[in-house]
Amino acid sequence: MSYLGIDLGTSGLRALLLAEDGSVIGSAEQSYSSEHKHPGWSEQNPADWITALEMAVAELRGSHSEFTDLRAVSVAGHMHGATLLDSTGDVIRPCILWNDTRSDIEAQHLDAMPGVREISGNIVFPGFTAPKLLWVKAHEPESFARVAKVLLPTAYLNYYLTGDYVADMSDSAGTSWLDVSGRAWSDTLLTAGQMSETQMPRLVEGCQPAGTLRPDLAANWGVSGSVFVAGGAGDNAAAACGLGALNEADGFLSLGTSGVLLAARDGYYPAPDSALHTFCHAVPDRWYQMGVMLSATDSLNWLGQIAGKNPSDLTRNLGDNLRAPGRVQFYPYLSGERTPHNDASIRGSFTGLGKDTDQSDLTCAVLEGVAYGLSDSYDALAQTGVSIDRLIGIGGGTQSRYWVKLIATVLDVPIELPQDGEFGAALGAARLAMIAGSGASPEDILKPPRIGERVLPDSNMAEAFNAAKIRFRAAYEHLQEISSRRG
Ligand code: XUL
Repeated sequence: MSYLGIDLGTSGLRALLLAEDGSVIGSAEQSYSSEHKHPGWSEQNPADWITALEMAVAELRGSHSEFTDLRAVSVAGHMHGATLLDSTGDVIRPCILWNDTRSDIEAQHLDAMPGVREISGNIVFPGFTAPKLLWVKAHEPESFARVAKVLLPTAYLNYYLTGDYVADMSDSAGTSWLDVSGRAWSDTLLTAGQMSETQMPRLVEGCQPAGTLRPDLAANWGVSGSVFVAGGAGDNAAAACGLGALNEADGFLSLGTSGVLLAARDGYYPAPDSALHTFCHAVPDRWYQMGVMLSATDSLNWLGQIAGKNPSDLTRNLGDNLRAPGRVQFYPYLSGERTPHNDASIRGSFTGLGKDTDQSDLTCAVLEGVAYGLSDSYDALAQTGVSIDRLIGIGGGTQSRYWVKLIATVLDVPIELPQDGEFGAALGAARLAMIAGSGASPEDILKPPRIGERVLPDSNMAEAFNAAKIRFRAAYEHLQEISSRRG
């Protein structure tokens, strides 16, 4: 038997085939682009996802005979996107993605409505799904009138795979239409968003069977027997499954374009005022919470571009030992910020520059600014009662040991780096397929990766970084004023 996990990412799709013992048989990747027709807009054509899926499957089939024994498949992917279908199941307009901010006003309007934060457990961020539909209603009424179903990107692939409208809880939690505690569509939220339950897909847990592969697709793919399709997951829940972050306080730090600090929870402990995200996990009776900062490695890449240097050269030049925080600080709000500020218009800044400031001071300030931003999320998580005693570190930024050591010191928590191998959202998806297809328990399948290195906080530097963190936090209101002055 083999199991297929699909990660429908923002820039491309990754398909991963696992053997029955959980080992990797092979993988394939395909890329696609997003369209940005206006500033703040971000759209994709769902047909491109299908093309990418079919090409990745063709590649896997061609190179691995185990594909014919496919037992189950599962899709993880970028969250919050609105794929609108008409009554015949055809796509009405391009999917509006998670990083599209056009519905800022609609989000603010929904967020202020009584009960919305309480039931959804979250701020209504402009990237979430419900405000997108209000925007379509206001600006494209003829499209809105035709909407028979709204599917998240992963649910659209579930529809392609099974022929059924079915979505999982973890992804649906990011719509602002779900009662995140009760794990069901909420009449109150749907009414607030001017939608009805008939326009929603059926809900299942991420690790449960959502249906079976359409017979014509199974025939095209050359697979024998009936193939289960699991509910799937939003990308962060799937990454948590790939890292075995399932039980209370199991957490990870993802240092990618954006920075994510996530902790699994054994209960529902919403804290919308802190701009933390509280979503259903991909297994029943579990939730997870995460802080999202929008520009993590993006901040370093930006500095690299300005300085004409490769970001990895900038960090390598710092050596191995932490430097004490200096006078220069960087505020990493290049694209606004989600946690803890929920501020789409705030912009970044350097402070404390002098004629003596050199490139390494700027690099340190950028790395420290991201670390302080992550500590905002870490502290917000701690205030919900979760007690994290270690984090698994993933993402491109963890290539810099200096940066990992700095973050471990600022957060005062050890960061464990997995050995090379698979541990991303595609692995999480493949594992969900395995649970749905084999009936195994989530605890038996969702195991943590082998750890290659444990990076400890530098206790000699803790006090200095604490003082610098306090300075960093004190600057927010001033920055807000400057950002609003510039319009
Ligand atoms: C989560 C979020 C992103 C997207 C894209 O709230 O917006 O993680 O899922 O990766």
